[in-house]
Amino acid sequence: MSNRKVYTDYFFDEPAYNTHDGGFIPLEAPKVPQKALAIPEPLKPDEETDTDMYYTVTAQTGEVQLLPGTKTKTWGFNAPLLGKTIIFKNGKTIHITLKNELPELTTFHWHGLNVPGPITDGGCHAPVYPGKSTQIEFKCHQPAATLWLHAHPCPSTAEHVWKGLATGVIVKDDIESKLPFPRNYGVDDIPLILQDRHFHENNQFDYLADYDPDGVQGPTPMINGTINPYFDVTTQRLRLRLLNGANRREWRLHFSDDLKFTQVASDGGVLPEPVDFTHLMLTCAERAEIIVNFGDYKPGDTVTLYCDDVPIVHFRIHQFTPDNTKIPDHLVDIPNPEVTPGTQVHKVVMSGMDEEVMMNDKKFDMQRIDDRQKVGNVEYWDISNTNDKSNGMVHPYHMHGTQFRVISRNGQAPYPNENGLKDTVGVNPGETVRLKVWFEHLGVFMNHCHIIEHEDGGMMAQFEVYDPDQPKTYKLMDMDTLMNAFAKERGVKVADLHIPGMDNM
Ligand code: C2O
Ligand code: CU
Ligand code: CU
Repeated sequence: MSNRKVYTDYFFDEPAYNTHDGGFIPLEAPKVPQKALAIPEPLKPDEETDTDMYYTVTAQTGEVQLLPGTKTKTWGFNAPLLGKTIIFKNGKTIHITLKNELPELTTFHWHGLNVPGPITDGGCHAPVYPGKSTQIEFKCHQPAATLWLHAHPCPSTAEHVWKGLATGVIVKDDIESKLPFPRNYGVDDIPLILQDRHFHENNQFDYLADYDPDGVQGPTPMINGTINPYFDVTTQRLRLRLLNGANRREWRLHFSDDLKFTQVASDGGVLPEPVDFTHLMLTCAERAEIIVNFGDYKPGDTVTLYCDDVPIVHFRIHQFTPDNTKIPDHLVDIPNPEVTPGTQVHKVVMSGMDEEVMMNDKKFDMQRIDDRQKVGNVEYWDISNTNDKSNGMVHPYHMHGTQFRVISRNGQAPYPNENGLKDTVGVNPGETVRLKVWFEHLGVFMNHCHIIEHEDGGMMAQFEVYDPDQPKTYKLMDMDTLMNAFAKERGVKVADLHIPGMDNM
């Protein structure tokens, strides 16, 4: 065993936990029999060469046997629910055909991927209409990481994700592949997409019935689209690629026996130094890759993963060959560029709760650019949450188009697992988190709270990454175009369209 310190803390401010929300819906242990955890299949490339990868990603409807009885109607990417895992190799040029087979428009947002905005990035400016397809192409240029793809048709992002449009994206590279980590996908390297749902009559989702402007929740944990999952452990060490894919829920994770685990990667890739924990909290959209060592268990044992005190995955231990691999104290070097002299600190203020949420005292406007940064510059961004310390909430702040560094929290060191590349950071009430941010690609990008109902409700802004030698103008989407399209697709008048996020704007 190593001499590293073992943290036993969730770090975030306890009074701000979602458990204190007026509308908090506690998780409940599902009463249905345990079922094998679904492992999303890797998406097969249409073609792959030494330099290029070609994929088709299809947003589709489907049905899944989630609970005994009637199947649940769902949406997914290349699968009925959630999706197949999409794998990119760093350095290759990626060509993707995006196909929409849903009854309404959606978008394909690559959360955490460094690509140009706003079209390739896939936010609200890049709708793909039903029955249509488009192509994107980009060079994958970032370290190995666990990212994700999700729908982003503002202000209906939350509903699309709730119906199932979210899936894992894995970037691979030659550095991570030499580290002593498990990487046999599906066997000792598995994604865990953490979500919660509420099942209504006939086992169906009903987003509007569950709507809460502070974030939609349900009592049933749904992990990789499985209710009450178990996983058969056949190796001593298991790598879990944790993704908080919930609309609002925070996941406070720990194992039975307070089993220690090691976090080796955060949102944007491998951490410079691994961090040992017994407890870990993930706010919406955050990822953590952890390695769990089952060396002290024997066949027949079960190790349970909990969120607060509710079991969410049962790891059934089987025979495995002993594995004494140690995780080194230093893993990778990551960039920490100097701030460009003479640049100003960007300020972002997240305020309010419920329908009142805003960013810099404004509601989101697709046509307005709120901030600008020169491509290649390295600048500080100070992100504040003005919620009250005693009854406010943690707002997970996310930026498209970058992997940033977290510099400080109210002037103090960030949490021990925040020394890597990140694209989402939970900001406590009364706190200012300083980020160091740089961009490689031009474009218009979004920054927002990743409680998805907050982003739909207007706690979102846009910035342009520009090059003074190459001025560009962008044709930005507008709310009327999207609303008219949704109304037509849903067969209602615009006035009768019920998209709750829109009502809050
Ligand atoms: Cu996960 Cu604006 O995105
Ligand atoms: Cu994103
Ligand atoms: Cu928020």
